[in-house]
Amino acid sequence: MNYWLALFCLLFACNKPTINEVNLIPKPQKIVLSDGFFSLSFNTNLILDSLFYEESNYLKEILNLKLTGSGNTIKLLKKEGLQEEEFLLNITKEHLKIEASTKKGIMRGIQTLRQLLPTTKGVLATKIPCLRVHDFPRFSWRGMLLDCCRHFMDKKFVMRYIDLLAYHKMNVLHWHLTEDQGWRIEIDKYPKLTDIGAWRTEKDGSNYGGFYSKEDIKEILNYAKKRHITIVPEIEFPGHSVAAIASYPYLSCTGDSIAVATEWGVYKDIYCAGNDTVFTFMEDILTEVMELFPSEYIHIGGDEAPKYRWENCKKCQQRIKQENLHDTHELQSYFITRIEKFLTKNGRKLIGWDEILEGGLASSATVQSWRGEEGGITAAKNGHDAIMSPTSHCYFDYGLDATDLKKVYHYEPIPAELTPEESKHILGGECNMWSERAPQKLIDNKVFPRILAMSEVLWSSAEKDYTNFYSRVQKHYPKLDALSVNYGFESVPITSNIVFNVDSFTVSLFKGSPNMRLQYNLNNKEWQTYNTPFSINETSTLRARGFKNKKAYGEFEQEIIKHKATGKKVTYKAPYNKSYTGTGEYNLTDGLLGSSENFRDGYYQGFSGTDIEVVLDFGQHTSFSNITTSFFQYYLSWIVLPNSVSYAISNDGENFTALANLTHNIPLMKEGKFKHSFTFEKENIKAKYIKVVAKTVGKLPEEHPATGSDSWIFIDEIIVN
Ligand code: ACM
Ligand code: ZN
Repeated sequence: MNYWLALFCLLFACNKPTINEVNLIPKPQKIVLSDGFFSLSFNTNLILDSLFYEESNYLKEILNLKLTGSGNTIKLLKKEGLQEEEFLLNITKEHLKIEASTKKGIMRGIQTLRQLLPTTKGVLATKIPCLRVHDFPRFSWRGMLLDCCRHFMDKKFVMRYIDLLAYHKMNVLHWHLTEDQGWRIEIDKYPKLTDIGAWRTEKDGSNYGGFYSKEDIKEILNYAKKRHITIVPEIEFPGHSVAAIASYPYLSCTGDSIAVATEWGVYKDIYCAGNDTVFTFMEDILTEVMELFPSEYIHIGGDEAPKYRWENCKKCQQRIKQENLHDTHELQSYFITRIEKFLTKNGRKLIGWDEILEGGLASSATVQSWRGEEGGITAAKNGHDAIMSPTSHCYFDYGLDATDLKKVYHYEPIPAELTPEESKHILGGECNMWSERAPQKLIDNKVFPRILAMSEVLWSSAEKDYTNFYSRVQKHYPKLDALSVNYGFESVPITSNIVFNVDSFTVSLFKGSPNMRLQYNLNNKEWQTYNTPFSINETSTLRARGFKNKKAYGEFEQEIIKHKATGKKVTYKAPYNKSYTGTGEYNLTDGLLGSSENFRDGYYQGFSGTDIEVVLDFGQHTSFSNITTSFFQYYLSWIVLPNSVSYAISNDGENFTALANLTHNIPLMKEGKFKHSFTFEKENIKAKYIKVVAKTVGKLPEEHPATGSDSWIFIDEIIVN
């Protein structure tokens, strides 16, 4: 507000609500502010169209008022000609009117009203700013996936999320209920699914698990129905089915008994596609699922189903012959098509992850695109509906380094490749909250505030204004506090750019959020305020910490090493993968060490299915006595140490003399994440070039859950001293 306007308001008691009092997320399509307030009190009355009786009861609960007074009036009225979720909200001093043509529309309007209520409790006369809103969603599908399998989440928690979705005008809870690590839905006909399949024995011997009884599910469904949130259950076929197979081993190709999985990843034991009793099982399960869930759509998974067992199963091979299929991809398509026919016969529609495109798409299937946008594009171009949730923008289990608030905000669900006609097949999108690394108590921290951006991507117009959005997010935090949401950071709080030049590193630190203060120290000496970039000319441990609103806001640590190859040029025989570029062409000599926990920290270069062969050029003859190269291993992400690492030297860059060929005896399936170094030492070596060759193990071996897939090598630094 400028000075003259402020003075004018002071003198004439200007009563127009300020933007502080009207802060809506997602942003409405149209909003006009006017003067004054509607005062909510025991004297407020209610007039409604009988269609909205249930919604009016919800409203009374929210307001904690009977609405039977004789003063100002809330009106819930039917207005013909509006779209399903469209509504008009008109607030004057005398009345507060929401108009819609459907119950859903009224509910969305009530949620807007809910966001306009003050967060301070105990205000007897609550003032709601006068305004007009005309609102409707850009997309009809605005979802969030909640994985209650990797970690079980209690009934109250699931209901709380339904409410948080409703508050932000999301309308689909995609409820992931079956997995390798746990079956979570009670099925009368197959009691072992929850007697056995819902529980796993953790490595420490403890028993972990849980499931939702049919009564629990009905209660959750009622809670969702009241808020007009659709719950789409996901029952995974044919992969991610270890818990079901542990309960009923006859469902797999081998029939062997296996345990409910305890590690994250992809498993080769999947439902047998050659066995008719598997289809009976599937139909029985889906019959009970459809009895419970009113959703028109049923999600049947379809992702990450390794074909290894099918390749080696007589029954599956027999099915391929008998049905004139070409390969196991077509067998997967056969499998999904059989489910689709069953669902269609029962008046339901099938959704599957984008792998269901492989081997031919079932005729009425909707595709959920996750491995990028390609699945959604192919589906839409072929006249199928699609739901967009690419890992790049929509995976809230990913760290903020991969997907921060700003990135989510700038997501555009309609791929540029599509024509306007094809775009109509994009129903909307979802954010996916997989829970491998997020038990219930961490979910808020990962989902918020990023879901605020997603709600805006899916509801509001396609126009972007991040500054405006960001300022509304700041004002939204008190509302999240009032809802006891334990939200996380907006982006990585502290990042750096550390560049080596001639003989020193220049360190720049960056704040992930405005209004932050930064401090740093070197080698545990005293903390200093960070204002401008500084230099380091020796090997150091750099630490930094942030503060915002007088509270700690993020920590940072980086090992920086200066060695004889720092900043030297490296040439690559085969390029590094473009998803894992590290710091780029100087990654192997940048002096910056990757962490031993996070291979996505930006300091590793990844190579898939190929050896690494690089040549380091010192630029002049250099003497040294030690070469060390370090690699990452985490077999569950298919990242394994090379079989061997060899070093050779040269003076002309063409004729190389072998120095060493180093191997190791670390098992490929060694648990956990770690780094391993290959070191060669010899006094007084002299050379201008060093060649480093790391030999890949190739395809993942038989004992690996993803047998037959290409393995990865992740390399950090070539250190020469
Ligand atoms: C998925 O993330 N596997 C769908
Ligand atoms: Zn089989």
